[in-house]
Amino acid sequence: VSLKSYNTFGIDAKANRYINIKSIEDLKNVLKTEASYPLFVLGGGSNMLLTQDIKALVIHLNLKGISIVREDKDHVVLEAMAGENWHEFVLYCINNNYGGIENMSLIPGNIGTAPIQNIGAYGVELKDVFHSCKAINITTQEEVHFTKEDCKFDYRESVFKQNLRGKYIITSVCLKLTKHNHKLSLDYGAIKDELEKLKVVNPTIKDISNAVISIRQSKLPDPAKIGNSGSFFKNPVISVSEFKKLQMDFPNAPHYVISESQVKVPAGWLIETAGFKGKRFGDYGVHNKQALVLVNYGNALGKDIYNLAQLIQQTILRIFNIKIETEVNII
Ligand code: EPU
Repeated sequence: VSLKSYNTFGIDAKANRYINIKSIEDLKNVLKTEASYPLFVLGGGSNMLLTQDIKALVIHLNLKGISIVREDKDHVVLEAMAGENWHEFVLYCINNNYGGIENMSLIPGNIGTAPIQNIGAYGVELKDVFHSCKAINITTQEEVHFTKEDCKFDYRESVFKQNLRGKYIITSVCLKLTKHNHKLSLDYGAIKDELEKLKVVNPTIKDISNAVISIRQSKLPDPAKIGNSGSFFKNPVISVSEFKKLQMDFPNAPHYVISESQVKVPAGWLIETAGFKGKRFGDYGVHNKQALVLVNYGNALGKDIYNLAQLIQQTILRIFNIKIETEVNII
């Protein structure tokens, strides 16, 4: 089976075997009967670079459904099944006037993988609205409930990328959202500018979603047209003293203060300054409007993109003495 249409990078890797899973019962059965066979869990395929064929059984998680777990006059707790598309879920919430995730409009991928890397954009992270999730232990098929604390969220990190990597399959996620008096996050400069452009004075969650959609569309390539996985690298966090050294050579280096001792530097700026922005090598390259995004223009191999990523990492290390880590999972 070709996985080309199941990964947003559009890499034509093959899988030995493939199964589409539509219920938790089916999932448990497959885990039990295939216990001795290597497994590869696929959600929305939006955060992976396939550099080789998959010698495993690909489990494509297509569990669907959204339900209200409970609500009071101010809040609602919604449970969404892992296979729901993230952005469609955001639109569902906006249409029902449930606030909290509008800043995360248009992020590719599914609900079930959102907690793994604590997705985030424009000043909001999943952890800000996360209530809990359910997951199945791959070895025992036991259903486990994870609270927010259990998940150990951090910037593009969670327990599912660390200690529990490869041990659980997330089957549903519960989010706690507001029903009125939404706490709007307008801190990200680009959002304010965009709302001004759209002549919005008292923004609603729908206005914010629209603003984010238009910012993202202006910078980030649409995976349906140009294969990509969003930010390929994480923004590096460095010490203030390292940053002071960087500033001597690059006085205009952009940065965000994280704490008294640490700053975050946009990797997109490092990559652009190193001269990679918009560089194209045949069928792959660095996006011309956002240097943090690597792209597949057609039939690139995962290996080619991986080699480019390594070249970028080495160059950044040489020029700035800063290590940048990949955000995308390299398979
Ligand atoms: N910049 C450049 N050149 C570039 C790109 C960025 O100089 O080509 C500099 C600019 O100074 C700009 C700053 O970087 O002001 C920040 O850029 P941007 O607002 O586009 O955000 P980012 O830090 O590059 C992060 C997330 C994105 C998220 C945006 C908005 C990471 C790894 N990426 O990108 O998330 O949409 O902020 O919140 O944290 C993703 O994870 O896949 C993703 C797209």
